[in-house]
Amino acid sequence: MNRKIEVTASLEVVPIELWTEEESMLITKAKEILESAHAPYSKFLVGAALLLENGSVFAANNQENVSFPVGICAERAVLSYVMGNYPRIKPLKIAIAAKRIGEDIYAYVTPCGICRQTINEYEMKFGSSIEILMLNGQEEILKAKGIEQLLPFRFNKFNS
Ligand code: THU
Repeated sequence: MNRKIEVTASLEVVPIELWTEEESMLITKAKEILESAHAPYSKFLVGAALLLENGSVFAANNQENVSFPVGICAERAVLSYVMGNYPRIKPLKIAIAAKRIGEDIYAYVTPCGICRQTINEYEMKFGSSIEILMLNGQEEILKAKGIEQLLPFRFNKFNS
């Protein structure tokens, strides 16, 4: 009989009353920056805020293109900028928020596959997990302790 490999992935659901100050601050930054996203095609505005070990926070949003595949997600935009400019400072947490143009409520959002692989890259580089905080509606965060929870069976070993 074939062997089976099973993994359990889990997200913590954190209601607004239990958000830490740091979580509220990161979510606020993600909400603010999504308003400046360039998303005329999908009309789905996304913001991502990245916390580094030295306490600094950077934020970016999705930037779409008339040639659709050229667009970049908020998560990769902020990670590329920050990891390019501060390559030795460990990223600790990334918060993500999204909203459809014309709607007031925040949408359910989780990072796409390419962004998950990108987060994995920086977990590998620094040898530690990056917490992922995903705003779900107005009053709830879905929290992943690390990329393992969003990308089980990921490709993270090369030549071994
Ligand atoms: N998008 C992000 O920026 N991050 C996500 O986590 C999900 C998707 C963007 C890509 C595209 O500009 C738009 O949202 C619709 O997919």
